[in-house]
Amino acid sequence: MKHKILVTGGLGYIGSHTVVELQSAGYEVIIVDDLSNTRMEVLGKIAQITGTKPHFENFDLVDSELTQKFFDLHPDLSGIIHFAAFKAVGESVENPLKYYRNNIQSLINILENMERLKLSNLVFSSSCTVYGQPDELPVTEQAPRKAALSPYGNTKQISEDIIRDTVVASTIRSISLRYFNPVGAHPSALIGELPLGVPNNLLPFITQTACGIRPQLRVFGSDYNTPDGTAVRDYIHVVDLAQAHLVAVNRLVNNLGKAPYEIFNLGTGNGNSVLEVIQSFEKVSGVKLNYTITDRRPGDVEQVWANTQFANDELGWKAQLSLDEMTLSAWKFQLELNKNNQ
Ligand code: UFG
Repeated sequence: MKHKILVTGGLGYIGSHTVVELQSAGYEVIIVDDLSNTRMEVLGKIAQITGTKPHFENFDLVDSELTQKFFDLHPDLSGIIHFAAFKAVGESVENPLKYYRNNIQSLINILENMERLKLSNLVFSSSCTVYGQPDELPVTEQAPRKAALSPYGNTKQISEDIIRDTVVASTIRSISLRYFNPVGAHPSALIGELPLGVPNNLLPFITQTACGIRPQLRVFGSDYNTPDGTAVRDYIHVVDLAQAHLVAVNRLVNNLGKAPYEIFNLGTGNGNSVLEVIQSFEKVSGVKLNYTITDRRPGDVEQVWANTQFANDELGWKAQLSLDEMTLSAWKFQLELNKNNQ
């Protein structure tokens, strides 16, 4: 019997890559996604890559009745990876209640059903945003969390706290994964980041500018206290990130964790500036990017990159793919999208 894993938000960017890894490793996957920030075609692309179409249900996990019905039909889940959440920082500032309601209520619904059915294994999508601007770099999991800079960031902090407290009071075991900056796409170029509307994040903005969908990239700030003045992040290839989720699920399913609740940084351990990302993109694509330097974007931290020692040692996982592999795969995915939109 295959272990059955529920992947919420499994048609999203990181979710879809993780479903591919889970299915390739022999897990049976059930996806719940309300399609609020992705497209239905992703399901077919996952099937094309893996040869298996995952079971799919389209509903909003904020709806407690639908969520309960779903769990009643699937009381035998070996694990749950909870990706489904809103993630646009700016939108969360404009509409905080939308973020608190969606990101917090869906988590509570899942945890209540896990408790009710005595399901134990939860992997949660957290973010390096919980650190704010850390006092020491690279940042370890023990670094104090700073006051969140946005309602989105606050939902990640609150969610971590909800899981921590629930684990103490129940038989649920959980791993929170704090992502740094996921970029890139699957080597097949069939799945990748699919921003609906104007992208907020750097890589999709670069690839859309390079192919003329956007006229110009704005580099937000060149007066940071960094080697070239632009902000520094720890970019990690989404396939490396997806593989870390597989390792986390294996750890929970096989009861290998050292504590009922564990937290891991997922990054490469390297910081790259915005200009370095642009240079990498121009090199691998052969396209000269139209960009201009503008003011800083409010709420951006200056620099952050991960100490990955704990994840490397405990999970036996290490990011493998380089910045050039990230920018090239993002570009190939953009070219594939353009082909299909012609
Ligand atoms: N950037 C630009 N121009 C753009 C877009 C981004 O210069 O058009 C810069 C940003 O200023 C930043 C870097 O590129 O220095 C990366 O920006 P992203 O928006 O891609 O990523 P962030 O680091 O801002 O966001 C990430 C996660 C969020 C999380 C946030 C916390 O995507 O989920 O970190 O800081 F909330």
